[in-house]
Amino acid sequence: MDPAEATEGTDTSRHACARRLLRLGALTSTLVFTCLVLYAFTLTSSSGHTRVGTVRFEARAQGPEGTMPASPTNPTNPTVAAVAGPPAMVSIAPPTTTTSTTSRLTSGILYVMRSGHQNYKTRIPAVMETWGKEVNSTLDGLIIIGDQSWPGHRPPIIRAEICGNDHSKQLCCKTGYALMMAAQHLDEFSWFFVVDDDMYVNLENSRKVLSGYDPSKLIALGIPGCGPGFCADKKGGFCGGGGYAVSRASLRRLMVPSPEDFHKDLMKKLAVEKSGQAWDDISISCSLKRHNIKLLQIKGLHGWRIEGRGRPLNSGYERAIRSRNPLPITFHYLTPDMMTAIHRRFQDLGKHRLLGSRILPRHAYDEQLQQYLLNMSNRHFFME
Ligand SMILES: *[C@@H]1O[C@H](CO)[C@@H](O)[C@H](O)[C@H]1NC(C)=O
Ligand SMILES: *[C@@H]1O[C@H](CO)[C@@H](O)[C@H](O)[C@H]1NC(C)=O
Repeated sequence: MDPAEATEGTDTSRHACARRLLRLGALTSTLVFTCLVLYAFTLTSSSGHTRVGTVRFEARAQGPEGTMPASPTNPTNPTVAAVAGPPAMVSIAPPTTTTSTTSRLTSGILYVMRSGHQNYKTRIPAVMETWGKEVNSTLDGLIIIGDQSWPGHRPPIIRAEICGNDHSKQLCCKTGYALMMAAQHLDEFSWFFVVDDDMYVNLENSRKVLSGYDPSKLIALGIPGCGPGFCADKKGGFCGGGGYAVSRASLRRLMVPSPEDFHKDLMKKLAVEKSGQAWDDISISCSLKRHNIKLLQIKGLHGWRIEGRGRPLNSGYERAIRSRNPLPITFHYLTPDMMTAIHRRFQDLGKHRLLGSRILPRHAYDEQLQQYLLNMSNRHFFME
């Protein structure tokens, strides 16, 4: 149940009780005492409700060295303990930093990465040596779903046992399976962020942007606009290349009546082109919509390669990394070298905050986004 709903009832009875107190002001002290006891009871029970399953923390606007702006205000909360050692993902130590600004994120973001064994020795190490390593020091988490299991890896790579390994129907199957695995951690995270193994994520910016949205709403955040013609409304869905984040409420809704039913329904209604190519991002998007979940756009997701001069990080990446509006969240299609270079750049900027605060032209992102959507529609989607 939504904690907000749970408090409503007790609020009403609290008011009624207060009104009664006023009207019967002349009553004996016994009555007043009883009412006060009742009032105290509603107070304790309502605060009990609102804290269930919730780790509250406050976010700091800018942390030194890119540390994540998260810290539980109540480190003894049992949910924190549960987050600290889930078996199938990077474990999270509760951060020790104190904080100032309140955030709407009640707990962290679980990154849900799809991979394949061909990338276990190349892309996965690049992730784990860069942003994947930092997931460890925050309230966030990471699970990796592949075609072969690697239990010794940290976090363990989970095999999507019901799926194969291609970039069509099997990827749809794998993404659905990954969401089923993510749903095992529903109570531990606010958002479930689907990413690729050649994607860089800036955890701090991701948290900043997602904290502007309510995870108890039926919403998902990404780049809508791919696959026009697909889904019941013919509007298509997310361009998965930039990653997309599903709210806790949405993931919970997807898994009703059961995770198996979700997967069956997904695979039965795949978004398949005439050529036979199936799109996992569109298939998931249509499934989201079938479950009454709204697809919203957030900025800062770079689903495309950025052009520019220079190596290994060209001027385009340099600009995007320094952008304050939008804040860069993800970069896609990265080689391990670029992943490392981007990570170093963010780290350097974190050490010298002033450099990062330079104002950059806002339209750069929007122009790239328009071109990306155009590219995607030209290349891939021929309905008829
Ligand atoms: C995360 O931290 C735990 C304990 O501090 C450690 O055992 C584990 O190896 C770390 N994982 C990664 C991916 O760094
Ligand atoms: C769009 O496609 C062109 C041609 O393939 C490519 O050069 C360009 O980088 C792409 N732009 C985006 C934003 O995807």
